[in-house]
Amino acid sequence: MACISSRDPGKIVAARNGPGPVVVGFGSGESYLSSDITPLLAHTRRVAYLGEGEIAVLTAPEIRFSTFAGAPVEKAVDTLDWEPAMIEKRGFAHFMAKEIFEQADVVRDTLKSRVSLDSGRVFLDDLGIAPDVFREVSRVVLIACGTSYPAGLVGKYLLETLGRVPVEVEYASELRSRDFVMDRGTLVLGISQSGETADTLTALRLAREKARAVLAVTNNPRSSMARDADGVLDLHAGPEIGVAATKTFVGQLAALSLFALAFAQARGALSDEDSLALVQELQRVPLKMDRVLGGAAAVERAARRFLGCEHYLFLGRWINFPIALEGALKLKEISYTHAEGYAGGEMKHGPIALIDEGMTTLAIVPRDRVYDKMLSNIAEVKARSGRILAVAFEGDERARASAEEVFAIPETHQLFTPFLTVLPLQLFAYHSAAAKGFDVDQPRNLAKSVTVE
Ligand code: M6R
Repeated sequence: MACISSRDPGKIVAARNGPGPVVVGFGSGESYLSSDITPLLAHTRRVAYLGEGEIAVLTAPEIRFSTFAGAPVEKAVDTLDWEPAMIEKRGFAHFMAKEIFEQADVVRDTLKSRVSLDSGRVFLDDLGIAPDVFREVSRVVLIACGTSYPAGLVGKYLLETLGRVPVEVEYASELRSRDFVMDRGTLVLGISQSGETADTLTALRLAREKARAVLAVTNNPRSSMARDADGVLDLHAGPEIGVAATKTFVGQLAALSLFALAFAQARGALSDEDSLALVQELQRVPLKMDRVLGGAAAVERAARRFLGCEHYLFLGRWINFPIALEGALKLKEISYTHAEGYAGGEMKHGPIALIDEGMTTLAIVPRDRVYDKMLSNIAEVKARSGRILAVAFEGDERARASAEEVFAIPETHQLFTPFLTVLPLQLFAYHSAAAKGFDVDQPRNLAKSVTVE
């Protein structure tokens, strides 16, 4: 809560009671108050965070802190390492477009100094918990909301395949209402770009009472979630201004890939040879992402061509099922178009009834372990006069023969295809919204971080 009195207009009094973040900024002869650090960047990089049960009294020359009972509180000033230039559009029409094109660099930064290309080892020294914890747990639970949820699902598939461990992914808002069973054999990861989502914070606080350890996978290592956690996996994605998450999603994929590799290595679940091959391929991913983004004009043309389409079904299987969810969410939230994300195998259990010439299916079909099954899905859609767009490997003639448009991606290891398949879907959503003249960076009814339940 923040208050200004008309009788004392040069003063702001702020108080925090609960998980919502309150940040103060120290300028020169100015003081600032915000619910996030990003808007402060244009004014100052010197900030402090209000704890629960604390009050800040801001005047232009100074900020004083106390408890609710009035006892003075000394606050350490934190200097942000994000540059003000990071929150400029740099020639792009929207922040979202700029952030989409930054994604290969985000993966490069997330991997930097954390992998050895000679041994294939992954080093998460900054995580802050001992690798022993990875050996001691028998289950991993990932907790998230919104776009962070499909990122968590990709993490689940990576951990299952590489770490051979049971994994669950939970919506924070659901988990906190359930009688969720958790014990000291459970490792919990909270996934949140902002680290301030109220539901995720509350669910993680409940988890802390029971689990072996709680880790925060976040783009804000100073967030409430990071401060509450036993360890932090920093995304290093830089500030994300567009309300629709793009580069932080890809940062989450990179962080979770590293986590899954480190987890598997600590448990001896992955051979040195496989580790090396995977790490070397992960290092090549950013270059391949740049190649996909180089084809953005084709996606823009397709988005314009399909502007009249009002219903979309996004289909993917296995590790690209979460990408179908994320592609549909992106299209919904910025272009206000009805879109559903489904697992390919579920199509015949309901959504198939919707398919006709008014429904476009966006099928994700890299040549992986579920490729043939996805081609069958496409054939079923075609037989019912549905329109088809596909994301497939370069040179895939079978996909090309089935779809009106194919967004081509370079080949990569099947576990890393989400880094590439998500890019055309983000671009498709972006160009659909931009062509309709919508406020891409600030879509209606949405906030960048949802700090209320
Ligand atoms: O900061 P978080 O990752 O916890 O945010 C979760 C969601 O609020 C967020 O992903 C939201 O769904 C975005 N608008 C997605 O683009």
